[in-house]
Amino acid sequence: MEHGEDAGVYQLREDLAVIQTVDFFTPIVDDPYTFGQIAAANALSDVYAMGGRPLTALNIVCFPVSRLDKTILREILRGGLDKMREAGVLLVGGHSVEDDEPKYGLSVLGVVHPDRVLLNRGARPGDRLILTKPLGTGIAGTAIKAEMASPELAGEAVRSMAALNAAAAAEIEKTAGVHACTDITGFGLLGHACEMIEGAKEGILIRSSEVPYFTGIRDLAETGILPAGLHRNRAFRQGMVAVETTCPEWLADILYDPQSSGGLFVSVAAGEADDLLHRIRAAGVTAASIVGEVTAENPGRIRVV
Ligand code: CO
Ligand code: CO
Repeated sequence: MEHGEDAGVYQLREDLAVIQTVDFFTPIVDDPYTFGQIAAANALSDVYAMGGRPLTALNIVCFPVSRLDKTILREILRGGLDKMREAGVLLVGGHSVEDDEPKYGLSVLGVVHPDRVLLNRGARPGDRLILTKPLGTGIAGTAIKAEMASPELAGEAVRSMAALNAAAAAEIEKTAGVHACTDITGFGLLGHACEMIEGAKEGILIRSSEVPYFTGIRDLAETGILPAGLHRNRAFRQGMVAVETTCPEWLADILYDPQSSGGLFVSVAAGEADDLLHRIRAAGVTAASIVGEVTAENPGRIRVV
């Protein structure tokens, strides 16, 4: 746990380890079915980020039964169940408590070969860094609440958050040269990149112009429509990050944007990076991009150009 791994791993025998993770949160969209889908995709993601395959899950539910209509709860659970089915995951139980604010998520059990566990540490100099989903869900969420988001942006962000990381994970699993992997969530791209190399002998170079983000996010970032978590992420990590003048301020902000159900962030040997990227895109994850590389210079630090 010392390096903030995405999930816990316990080795059962020489060829089998189990992965355990739990994740739940308050609604980030109005539609209960969509919220259920996003919460489930987000919870399952931590198993994919460890190189594993999710098998079973438990529902975790908080709901104000006396204040909100029960059909809302049913829709949340239906959204989650549909996502679990899509992932080939069996729902085996759950627990609910009465609470003033609805919350939903999953505790997930997965499996992995002990030799194939992907930690967020282990990136090697020369590795290329692949990000599989566009950034901007935090900014989009803030704009949706303020009724400033275009329907295109809201649609794009919601579809992305509800999408499983399964297809990208399946390609990553087949790639021998993958050295480290995590998923981008609350700490934003730069926060999770920092976790990869904090205190390590390697550094990271991010090419900001290569980083994918949703349509309309630039305008919102330039207008200052930024979630509080973005400012917290920047305050926490800016000491480790050098942003050069080639990266405009609005784009640096996007790199700190906290993501809900974000993409995978993979460190892969340079010689296999293009092939892996091609296969991930061919699997339908079309926004995936090589956004930077691991360097021998700048140990434990990130340079953004
Ligand atoms: Co994670
Ligand atoms: Co998580």
